[in-house]
Amino acid sequence: MTIRPRRSALYMPASNARAIEKARSLACDVVMLDLEDAVAPEQKAAARDQAAAAGGFGRREWVIRVNGLDTEWGADDLAACRAAAPDAVLLPKVSSPDDLRQARALLGPGPALWAMIETARALVDLRAIAEAAAETGLAAFVVGPNDLAKELRVRPGVDRAPLLPILSRIVTVARAYGIAPLDGVMNAFDDDGAMAAECAQGLAFGFDGKTLIHPNQIAPANRVFAPTAEEVAWAQRIVAAFDAPENAGKGAIKVDGKMVELLHRDDAQRTLAVAAAIADRG
Ligand code: COA
Ligand code: MG
Repeated sequence: MTIRPRRSALYMPASNARAIEKARSLACDVVMLDLEDAVAPEQKAAARDQAAAAGGFGRREWVIRVNGLDTEWGADDLAACRAAAPDAVLLPKVSSPDDLRQARALLGPGPALWAMIETARALVDLRAIAEAAAETGLAAFVVGPNDLAKELRVRPGVDRAPLLPILSRIVTVARAYGIAPLDGVMNAFDDDGAMAAECAQGLAFGFDGKTLIHPNQIAPANRVFAPTAEEVAWAQRIVAAFDAPENAGKGAIKVDGKMVELLHRDDAQRTLAVAAAIADRG
């Protein structure tokens, strides 16, 4: 089982050289260099050059968020990504499978495509977008809560209640098609408690990790989206119990007074693989 931890995916404006340098020593799992909304129009070209020259980030995944193909910068951004070959290219405001196809045609066969899910149309056509995953190399859905709130005119508030059915649907469709779901950003970056709570909510809704806007947010995301020591111990007990000779050939057994089935062993093995991949990051 190959697992890439994506607990924490930190955006930064690709126009900000200091942030890019800082990112080389930050503990986020994914570095996301933004060419889109965090970059002013007059800085687009310089940001593109800087992102393309940023190179890799060690074991961390390296992602460039491009401008949409309906803007004057999108095609040049994709051409730059084709040459720079980051791990993935994040497409903003994906609203149809054709958005993915057009981007793939300009990008060539290299990097994975990740899609921002942040428009009303994407929600209407989410299944069709996911169905194009194999053909277009789509590997992740990234929730864009700021654009979603603007388009839908919802007011999420601290509990994100109006977004919860949407988050759930994005995870459901992602899982059905083997796409990794990443939760959206939290704009308030000075409140550790609120951040941990929103990460825990994202974890409970099934997300692999959270997108972030500030280094302060890395530690809570890494903590919450990693299996706890208790979860790892429980997973080890389940795997060991199924390996015990007296349980050979059984589909359901008792562990610590609870029924455990083979599906729980699969889940336990995944938990252990995630924990090992995280430990491997050091
Ligand atoms: N990535 C890497 N480093 C970052 C960072 C980020 N996203 N945000 C801040 N930093 C760095 C700053 O450069 C600063 O480093 P320094 O002390 O070594 O100079 C340090 O962290 C503290 O930054 P702080 O002063 O608290 O924040 P700020 O006022 O400089 O920046 C934001 C605040 C919101 C403008 C900035 O965090 C940011 O640009 N975030 C990302 C925005 C983005 O990409 N949005 C698009 C996706 S929604
Ligand atoms: Mg957006």
